[in-house]
Amino acid sequence: MSEQTPIAIAIDGPAAAGKSTVAKEVAKALGFTYIDTGAMYRAVTYAVIAAKKDPQKEEDAVALLPNIQIDLKPDHSIWLNGEDVSKVIRTPLVSSQVSYIAAMKPVRLAMIEQQRALATRSNVVMDGRDIGSYVLPHAQVKIFQIASVECRAKRRYLEDQEKNIPATYEEVLEEVKKRDYIDSHRDFDPLMAAPDSISLDTSNMTVKEVVNAILDIVKEKTGLEGERC
Ligand code: CDP
Repeated sequence: MSEQTPIAIAIDGPAAAGKSTVAKEVAKALGFTYIDTGAMYRAVTYAVIAAKKDPQKEEDAVALLPNIQIDLKPDHSIWLNGEDVSKVIRTPLVSSQVSYIAAMKPVRLAMIEQQRALATRSNVVMDGRDIGSYVLPHAQVKIFQIASVECRAKRRYLEDQEKNIPATYEEVLEEVKKRDYIDSHRDFDPLMAAPDSISLDTSNMTVKEVVNAILDIVKEKTGLEGERC
């Protein structure tokens, strides 16, 4: 391992803002590890549902925590206790419950501990809601990616269609609005832009434009040059 402090790039923002698509590309361009923190909360939610427990009851989720082992593989697949859950964690049922699980302080503290540990091992691009504001306050680059709620719902609806996830545009719009509300109003560690983050409105930008804009910011802040797409 290198003696130097690893570099961290935090990409935060509301639901379905396209963070993971962009974060993956930025990580690839720089040769960094991509960490999808939303997938971790989704995996916990799936574990609670699969155990036939109530994802809105803190004691149910907390009781399961010691038995939850999440692995983020280099190919970006997400594993829960040895099972590949990459697909099932994106289903409407998990999406509708994940913000309740993510509002539970003991769950957050357990996930944040793992996220911080991952960031000590290699250079990372980490996406989420609280990476720049709480998880990695010393991240060298902090991006807060926004887009209108209609634009985000449309993007997620099209993504869902591609993945054969059954949901109408109206259902996706309601779910995105509901998650944004819960995520930004929870007591502990809510969704918010870190004061030193750079806000990027991606409503009228292509993925390529967003990736290149972030690579420009990375270059300015760290001197590192990523491979352009
Ligand atoms: O991809 P999408 O925007 O739909 O969401 P995600 O990144 O997969 O995150 C799913 C949910 O996990 C969010 O709606 C939050 O409730 C929670 N989350 C969080 O609280 N903190 C994070 N760092 C990441 C996700």
